[in-house]
Parts: sequence; C-alpha cells; structure tokens
Amino acid sequence: PVEHTLAAIKPDTLEEHRDEILEQIQNAGFSLSQIKEEKLSREMAEEFYKEHKGKPFFEQLVDYMCKGPCLMMILSKENAVQEWRSLMGPTDPTEAQKSSPDSLRGRFAKSVLENAVHGSSNQDHALEKIKFIFGDIDLNMMVHEE
Ligand code: CMP
Repeated sequence: PVEHTLAAIKPDTLEEHRDEILEQIQNAGFSLSQIKEEKLSREMAEEFYKEHKGKPFFEQLVDYMCKGPCLMMILSKENAVQEWRSLMGPTDPTEAQKSSPDSLRGRFAKSVLENAVHGSSNQDHALEKIKFIFGDIDLNMMVHEE
C-alpha cells in the first residue's frame, strides 16, 4: 500500500540546494503528491515541533525554521515514512557523513541543528503533520502518478 509522509527542505538548504534535493527525491522513486513553499510563523514552528518543546535546542530550532520559507512536501510511496528517513540519513551530519555520505544530510547538513531536511518519524506523526501543513486533504484521492 502507498504510504504518505510529510517532508520539508529547511530554509537555508532550500536557497542553496533545492534542485539537487528535488532530483534526489525523484530518483528515489517518491511521488510528490503535494508541494508548497511556506514561511512558518513562530507560532506554527512551535506547534510543528511541539514534541521537542523544553529541549535545550528548542528556541534555536524555532528561529532556524522561521528564518525563510521551507519547501513542504507530501511524499508518497510504499513505506514512505521509513524510506524518506533513510534518504535523509541520520540527524547528526557527522554521523551521516560516516554512515551514509550520499544521504541528503550526508551531502547538505551543516550541523545537528542546521540539518537540511525534515521528515515525520512515524505514520501517526505523518498524518498529523500533513494535516497541520496542508489542511484536511483526502490522501486517498491523491493521484500517485508523476
Ligand atoms: P528534525 O528531524 O527536523 O527534528 C528535530 C530537529 O531538531 C532536528 O531535525 C534538528 O534540526 C534539531 N535538533 C535535534 N537534535 C538537536 C541537537 N542536539 N542540537 C541542536 N538541534 C537539534
């Protein structure tokens, strides 16, 4: 069955590497079901990352995500949540460069904070974040052709 995940290209990386990342997404066989550029407000970024509230890097994370537009995407594929996480690579680029240098974070992340891309961690989060960013769309009605 086709699964959906919420993926984001973070602001700095969107400016610098948009086309290379979109190409890598296409090459990995994802369908790009929805796409929009969006500059998150502080309130939205805080809500988007509410699972991380209280962590020492939370304020920095919110600042980083608000500093320009993100590219928000719904990626669709069998096993999309896990497949997108493996295309991103580990959160920490030092680790990504060692274990998966061809992953998006291996290629483009600058630090554990400025780590280029985001993806939902499980299917429940994926549905929640898709709804938060794209509203009440009917995922079953989406066309999965490229
Ligand atoms: P992301 O996968 O979008 O989910 C949470 C984000 O918090 C993560 O990517 C990083 O941008 C950031 N992050 C996670 N851990 C740390 C950390 N130890 N220090 C700074 N930022 C972090």
